[in-house]
Amino acid sequence: MLRAGQTVIFPTETVYGLGGDATNPDAVAAIYAAKQRPADNPLIVHIWHPAQVDELAHDIPGYARQLIAEFFPGPFSLLLPKRPLIPDITTAGSSKVCLRMPSLELSREFLRLADRPVAAPSANLSGRPSPTRWQDCLEDMDGRVGAILKGPEAVFGLESTIVDASGPVPVLLRPGAVTLEMLRRVVPGIATDPNLVAETTPGMKYRHYAPKAKVSLVEPGEVLPWVPAQAGYIGLTAPAFAVEYQLRMENLEEYGQKLFSFFRECDRRGLSAIFAERVEPTGLGRAIMNRLRKAAGETS
Ligand code: TXA
Ligand code: MG
Repeated sequence: MLRAGQTVIFPTETVYGLGGDATNPDAVAAIYAAKQRPADNPLIVHIWHPAQVDELAHDIPGYARQLIAEFFPGPFSLLLPKRPLIPDITTAGSSKVCLRMPSLELSREFLRLADRPVAAPSANLSGRPSPTRWQDCLEDMDGRVGAILKGPEAVFGLESTIVDASGPVPVLLRPGAVTLEMLRRVVPGIATDPNLVAETTPGMKYRHYAPKAKVSLVEPGEVLPWVPAQAGYIGLTAPAFAVEYQLRMENLEEYGQKLFSFFRECDRRGLSAIFAERVEPTGLGRAIMNRLRKAAGETS
């Protein structure tokens, strides 16, 4: 189906992707349509073999080679100057292409059999939380795609780390499970200055990761003057207030994995408010706080 230009949703270790042939403009147009995604928001291109990097990108800096050696395959994407094999629609007119090699065995097998690079945004309707289970994909995309390849629940549950590797110095654009601390061990000079990337930072322009309920962030143990009757809570420690539905997480890994499916469960329950406990914004906590701030409508 994918080779014939249709859309196919497939699992990865980060979130599920809504895939189409990245070299076929009609297939890519079908992805934008299915997701109701604005045409100026580019798609990540997925590969399974390292040799594909040089087929799709050029002028690859030495530090990018080091990052590829360290973090491909995995929850990591690199922005590089694109070759003409990738049409403009895939990158929304940008001269750069974002490349990712997932590590989940089922993703790799799917991408190997596809036999071409696969463009895939997260498989949610634009503006909804990313899907971490095939059931979430069905909820948003039933009737809108060719097929859903059922796989396991995503282990990371947060979208990949994105690094712009098209300039002299790498720039972290989106924090993920490959943490800034891990990146610094390979490239100590990596930049994160938000002013440097204000124009291109994923999620700066469009509302992202948002459930229908109003999301508020709370400190551990914070006492609230008033809590709506139909509220949800997610965090590492017990809330200091009563809620209808709560998810207590053991650690940051679990918090990241369950966050988006928790948002969706709150919507299914018709809750009007969600309280999410803040975490230390280091390591994986940086990615969690990034998604929480966006869901809460804070500019991070
Ligand atoms: O983990 C992930 O990255 C998942 C799985 C399916 O691989 N994909 C994902 O795709 O999260 P998406 O489209 O939901 O988020 C990709 C982000 C978008 O914010 C987009 O703007 C940015 O990457 N992006 C993609 N290509 C780009 C490019 N050429 N230039 C700048 N930003 C780009
Ligand atoms: Mg997305």
